[in-house]
Amino acid sequence: MTADSARPARRFRSRDWFEDPERMDQTALYLERFMNYGLTPDELRSGRPIVGIAQTGSDLSPCNRIHLELARRVRDGIRDAGGIPMEFPVHPIFENCRRPTAALDRNLAYLGLVEILHGYPIDAVVLTTGCDKTTPAGVMAASTVDIPAIVLSGGPMLDGYFEGELVGSGTVIWKNRRRLAAGKISEEEFFDAALASATSSGHCNTMGTASTMNAVAEALGLSLPGCAAIPAPYRERGQMAYDTGRRVVEMAHEDLRPSRILTREAFLNAIVAVAAIGGSTNAQPHVVAMARHAGVEIRPGDWARGYEVPLLVNMQPAGSYLGERFHRAGGVPAVLNELLRAGKLDGSVLTVTGRTLAENVAESESTDREMISPYDAPLQERAGFKVLSGNLFDFGIAKTSVVSDEFRARYLSTPGREGVFEGRAVVFDGSDDYHKRINDPDLDIDERSILVIRGTGPLGWPGSAEVVNMQPPDALIKRGITTLPTIGDGRQSGTSDSPSVLHATPESAAGGGLAWLRTGDTIRIDLEAGRCDALVPEEEIERRKREDGVPPIPPSRTPWQELYRASVSGLDGGGVLESALKYRGVASETPRH
Ligand code: FES
Ligand code: MG
Repeated sequence: MTADSARPARRFRSRDWFEDPERMDQTALYLERFMNYGLTPDELRSGRPIVGIAQTGSDLSPCNRIHLELARRVRDGIRDAGGIPMEFPVHPIFENCRRPTAALDRNLAYLGLVEILHGYPIDAVVLTTGCDKTTPAGVMAASTVDIPAIVLSGGPMLDGYFEGELVGSGTVIWKNRRRLAAGKISEEEFFDAALASATSSGHCNTMGTASTMNAVAEALGLSLPGCAAIPAPYRERGQMAYDTGRRVVEMAHEDLRPSRILTREAFLNAIVAVAAIGGSTNAQPHVVAMARHAGVEIRPGDWARGYEVPLLVNMQPAGSYLGERFHRAGGVPAVLNELLRAGKLDGSVLTVTGRTLAENVAESESTDREMISPYDAPLQERAGFKVLSGNLFDFGIAKTSVVSDEFRARYLSTPGREGVFEGRAVVFDGSDDYHKRINDPDLDIDERSILVIRGTGPLGWPGSAEVVNMQPPDALIKRGITTLPTIGDGRQSGTSDSPSVLHATPESAAGGGLAWLRTGDTIRIDLEAGRCDALVPEEEIERRKREDGVPPIPPSRTPWQELYRASVSGLDGGGVLESALKYRGVASETPRH
């Protein structure tokens, strides 16, 4: 069945390629090579929408590899709804394996996708997502081009078990490296537990950056309801792929473009959702980046809206469980409905279904209150990111939902000074320096120390690295001090439970305050007041700036690293390519022949 007979004719941009009466020579050239895999001129000249499937799966992108299979069901859906599917590859992104960091690839995949969507005869697109940065890269590109776009998540891996205990992606590494340092497990057990966390096709099964960003896409209204949390191998995943393919064809006919969906209200909804799910700190730069490409400004104060929101989802690293149970409990729609009823979301925003967010989730209830708790009986109060500033940086964030009770009792509970911690800075220049020196007894690291790492931001690394979640020296861990406060101009893994101040902007390499900080300085963190300062006199700061300058950073090793450094913003601004922001809606004019 094709649905297009009943529809009013809409002239799609692909017809400028395949039906230009003035340029028959060009039209013939555009058409002929598609014949070589069996398409017919009639299909391409039928006036039906050509729907791109932006394929992020490959052997180099194992987290998204399920999309190589799912694409078949997407194609079925597109065909059944009267569209013509065209699948094409996206630059691979594999969070854990890409050196020096996959953060470089978000903007590179973005650039590549913009060129494809702009320069080829594509009328609408299915953005296949999964691993951390594949979601923001696709969404950013969809905004720049502004053709109808829908997100299809690949879904998390099945829950992992090791010796009867749940082991979640990433989190298993951070937990067990502490146990390894304490001499409680062998290297073999460390490996076995880590490998047991990867059970099947799919992305990280914790509420790391991947699960967070796919939930964000759903909260923004960019995917069909329920899409984000379905585990990759479940039968519902293939069915979701089919439904997504069908729906995107209708979106093409309705001209339902990202610019109608990605409003400021939608992004504020996403900020609230990130807090309730205990989402990754990487959501901060990615949400800001997606918003800026959509022409929406997210101010530091907007995160305060999330800070007040309680933790509802009991998923590692902030909670106990993994992706399968989250899906069975109702997934993202159940969380959104909980937030909506508490008055925390704007339910009137439009979504890819053509309906409002409130309409999409009205029937969605948590079926497992231990997994998704009610708003008024949450797992924890105030689960969002706390934005900090002070003389060390203008902008930094802390994820309060992962700060353990033990850590709060030890550091943040001095009577009369709750939430305030003063400690002695121990400063590392990048992660090689950290690994080389962390166990050096001369550093005198004790439970009153704050570990600081610099040279790890977008310019410094380059790309900004997930290295701020530094663990204490082995000797301290053996004494039972398993976490210390950390500060850095880089990021940390979304699967980490480290109590950290992250994304310090301006970064050290750009002359930010971490550049003049020295080991031995006292730092005061006041979580309530949102302050983080080094207690160093102003004249001394000026003297250090004058005499010492900025710590050196490694040179660029590839052409892209150089181009990236020349245009990248700080993490407060999403780490976007500043020069790309002025391009928005570029598909409104088709490129010249
Ligand atoms: Fe790819 Fe976590 S490493 S999703
Ligand atoms: Mg990560």
